[in-house]
Amino acid sequence: MEQQRELIARRIAPVGLVATSDQELAALTPVAAPAAPRSGPQVVAQVCGACHASGMLGAPKSHDKAAWAAREKAAGGPDGLLKSAIRGKGQMPPKGGDPSLGEQELRDAIAAMR
Ligand code: HEC
Repeated sequence: MEQQRELIARRIAPVGLVATSDQELAALTPVAAPAAPRSGPQVVAQVCGACHASGMLGAPKSHDKAAWAAREKAAGGPDGLLKSAIRGKGQMPPKGGDPSLGEQELRDAIAAMR
């Protein structure tokens, strides 16, 4: 009897749940585990390399020391480069198009491309 009741309850359970407040929504939303930070080379392989490997759209090429040195000078130092990477510049979208990237990941990615 108890088992049958449970089966029926499961069969008529609502397909979707409606949250009418932020608290309700938070209760229904599984907490995403923070992703482990990616290394510089990983970020370059997954994101930045799409443009920086070939110099597409005028991006400074990976390991073109002269190009990166000139960029750093123009940007006012390593922090200037980081700022450009965060905000985006010209044809480069903010964070190279991956909003999940943190500041340290961007720093490491820039270091890996120089
Ligand atoms: C869609 C192509 C594209 C992707 C993806 C991309 N970039 Fe760029 N990046 C560019 C272009 C184009 C420039 C040159 C922008 C300009 O000077 O107008 C640039 C310039 C830069 C600069 C120099 C900024 C300056 O102040 O001169 C840095 C630093 C940089 N990118 C970091 C990154 C990092 C880190 C990633 C990966 C997280 C990344 N980029 C992904 C296209 C890209």
